[in-house]
Amino acid sequence: MNKLEELFRGKAKSVYNTDEADRLILLFRDDTSAFDGKKIEQLDRKGMVNNKFNAFVMEKLEAAGIATHFDSLISDQESVVKRLEMFPIECVVRNITAGSICRRLGVEEGKDLNPPTFEFFLKNDDLGDPMINEYHIQSFGWAEAEHVEKMKQLTFEVNNVLKDLFLEGDMLLVDYKLEFGLYKGEVILGDEFTPDGCRLWDKETRKKLDKDRFRQGLGGVIEAYEEVGKRIGVEF
Ligand SMILES: Nc1ncnc2c1ncn2[C@@H]1O[C@H](COP(=O)(O)OP(=O)(O)OP(=O)(O)O)[C@@H](O)[C@H]1O
Ligand SMILES: [Mg+2]
Repeated sequence: MNKLEELFRGKAKSVYNTDEADRLILLFRDDTSAFDGKKIEQLDRKGMVNNKFNAFVMEKLEAAGIATHFDSLISDQESVVKRLEMFPIECVVRNITAGSICRRLGVEEGKDLNPPTFEFFLKNDDLGDPMINEYHIQSFGWAEAEHVEKMKQLTFEVNNVLKDLFLEGDMLLVDYKLEFGLYKGEVILGDEFTPDGCRLWDKETRKKLDKDRFRQGLGGVIEAYEEVGKRIGVEF
């Protein structure tokens, strides 16, 4: 397979066309961003760590019967994926309160949510990724009702698989964001699952091991990502 021109340069990844019509190459860069791109830094090794972390998690999900876009790792910072028609939507599940939900609802961080809660956000940095509901998705035509149902169902299935995976490494999966797209008419998981898009805490100490270390200037960002990876069996 040959890598062709860059199609899209996001905040953390670049997407390339390939000579296979239904395949893209994702390049995980060292760029780290937060607050809708207002804070940006280069973190050494981040692209490699996230690329390998993502490949490992996507393969676990695939093995559990969840269809993903992941095809193969082709270098330290690049993976081949299926070309999806992405929905402009983020699906978020929260098992424990943290981040924006605390500000929005005036609740303290660290409260268990039973059952876990689900939120949709519109992918739009200029608007600060506003929270939306299923009616918005229908009314504005961002996705069809059956696809919305499928995204919700798959996002909860991911919770079942990954809560256990991280628990085996003595970590709590606090929350996470997923993006989906259509491939040959089927809703499948796209984008990435890395500590950039989820919150993970050490089960005993509740030490933050995710992008909150970057957002909050706690240091040791990539060291934490690597530790999480090693605890679940990723080889870097
Ligand atoms: N399999 C795929 N097919 C097509 N596009 C994809 C696929 N997987 C991920 N993408 C898209 O590629 C981009 C990856 O770049 P990155 O995550 O760095 O973007 P970003 O700055 O977060 O911007 P965005 O808000 O669009 O996600 C995202 O827009 C994502 O939705
Ligand atoms: Mg993104």
